[in-house]
Amino acid sequence: MREIVNRQLLLVARPERAVETRHFAMRELPVPEPAEGQALVRVQWLGIDPTQRTWLNAQETYIPPVPLGTVMRGTGVGQVIASRSQLFDPGDWLVGPTGWQDFVLADGDGVRGFTKIPDGIEPRAMLSVFGVNGLTAYFGMIEIGRPEPGQTVFVTGAAGGVGSIAGQIARLNGCRVVGSAGDERKCTWVREIAKFDACVDYRRERLGERLRELAPGGLDIVFDNVGGEALEAALHHIAHGARVVLSGSISSGYRDAAYGQGPANYMQLAFKRARMEGFVFFDYAAQFPAALHQMLAWVRSGDIRYEETISTGLETAPAALAGLFHGRNLGKQLVRLF
Ligand SMILES: NC(=O)c1ccc[n+]([C@@H]2O[C@H](COP(=O)([O-])OP(=O)(O)OC[C@H]3O[C@@H](n4cnc5c(N)ncnc54)[C@H](OP(=O)(O)O)[C@@H]3O)[C@@H](O)[C@H]2O)c1
Repeated sequence: MREIVNRQLLLVARPERAVETRHFAMRELPVPEPAEGQALVRVQWLGIDPTQRTWLNAQETYIPPVPLGTVMRGTGVGQVIASRSQLFDPGDWLVGPTGWQDFVLADGDGVRGFTKIPDGIEPRAMLSVFGVNGLTAYFGMIEIGRPEPGQTVFVTGAAGGVGSIAGQIARLNGCRVVGSAGDERKCTWVREIAKFDACVDYRRERLGERLRELAPGGLDIVFDNVGGEALEAALHHIAHGARVVLSGSISSGYRDAAYGQGPANYMQLAFKRARMEGFVFFDYAAQFPAALHQMLAWVRSGDIRYEETISTGLETAPAALAGLFHGRNLGKQLVRLF
């Protein structure tokens, strides 16, 4: 029988452009033993997020880069298999900073440490609708977008983890919601399952023209995950007093020191007395419990739907991360380890 080991993916080279498997190396170590106060977790799911690409760059962004030669940073979900902690019992499901590896020692509790997942919640949903995606969508839309009934909202990356939920939150606040996504299959999901009013296939259609048709009165809120041409097209169609929510700029590729070009038409913000504001979801940590309470109610009532794309095997994590930049995912990209 094969000995059980802890497989880890280490970052061994910083990508200049796209992420490739060769930027990582697999290492096998003995499964660690929990010390007093620690619990041993077997990781089952990794959440794959575009921002992980920014952590591979040498320059610091909102957190330091992943050092070369260390386990790739990432959030995951796993089950406690041995415990010397007062906080966690064997069998508990935890979410936290597992990194890209099969086993991890958990010794904390709280927003950035490991947290026990309450019974009744599908553990891997803590990586999507009840985790980074749902919280980003919630705080970006509610706190910065400030939707009001009857307003028109445009969401880029509408078939992705964050965008799909952001648009549904706007709909639940009485808004008319238009999305954009990279192919017709995604747009069909956005319209029929996520129940946006419209979705533009930005690769096949002219986004600017379609926005003029779909939002003749202008866009009151733009929730932008993409940046670049999509943001420029949206800025051309903002309404007076619009709020442009800067969630991300994935079209830039998140390469080192190249997180997107300034939109050429940013003066539209002045002409329309509009506001563009960026945010990072964890700044709202104090309000997470209230937001999660609301998200849980919406998911249980069926008002919010979410989708997942799953790849299997720790070794697939680099390709899963690269795939986000090619639109290979519908909804949250996850990696299943066992
Ligand atoms: N501010 C925060 O606190 C925060 C937190 C989490 C995430 N974010 C940001 O939220 C955004 C979405 O993240 P996510 O985790 O939900 O990822 P995601 O939207 O599920 O996946 C990325 C999607 O981006 C689209 N995309 C990739 N390259 C593109 C390009 N060149 N032009 C247009 N679209 C492109 C693809 O969809 P298509 O097929 O539709 O092109 C792809 O499926 C990212 O920008 C991320 O950085 C921000």
